[in-house]
Amino acid sequence: MAMSTDLEQAFNDQITLEFASEYVYLQMAAYFEANDLPGFAQWMRLQADEERTHALKFFDFVLERGNTVELGEIPAPPTEFASPLEVFEASLAHEQKVTAAIHDLYRMCSEAGEYHALPLLHWFIDEQVEEEASVSQIVEQIRMAGDNGAAMLFLDRELGARSPGSGE
Ligand SMILES: [Fe+2]
Ligand SMILES: [Fe+2]
Repeated sequence: MAMSTDLEQAFNDQITLEFASEYVYLQMAAYFEANDLPGFAQWMRLQADEERTHALKFFDFVLERGNTVELGEIPAPPTEFASPLEVFEASLAHEQKVTAAIHDLYRMCSEAGEYHALPLLHWFIDEQVEEEASVSQIVEQIRMAGDNGAAMLFLDRELGARSPGSGE
C-alpha cells in the first residue's frame, strides 16, 4: 500500500529541499571561485553533488513505495556574501533547517506507522549529524584564521583535498 497523501507531500517537499540545497551550495561554489579560493569552491561543489544524491534517495523511495513524485519549485539561493565566514555560517543554518525537516519526517512516519521509511530516515539523521559537525568545524577554523591570509590559503588547500564521498 502506498503512503498517505500527507506523507507523499512531505517526502516530495524533502526531495525539493535537497535539490534546493544543491542549488545553495553551487551558488556558494561560484562565490568562492570568484574570490580566488578554489579549494573552498571544490568543497562546495562536492557538497552540491552530495545533496543531489540525497534528493535521489528520497526520489527513489517515493517511487518504490508506489507514490507519485512531484518536484516543487526551487527558490533562488542567496548570491551576496560578505565573507567566507558568512558563507559557512549560512551553510550551517541551512543544514540545521534540513535536520529539522528530517526530524519532522521521522516523527510523521513513526506516528503514521510508516515503518518502512525509518531506516532511510535514520541514515539521514546520522548524515545530518556529520554534515553539521563538518560545517561547524569549518566555521571555527575560518574564525581562527581571522585576517591571516596565510591561514586562509592553508585552509583552502585543506578543503580542496576533500574527495568525493568522504563527507569532509
Ligand atoms: Fe542533504
Ligand atoms: Fe546537507
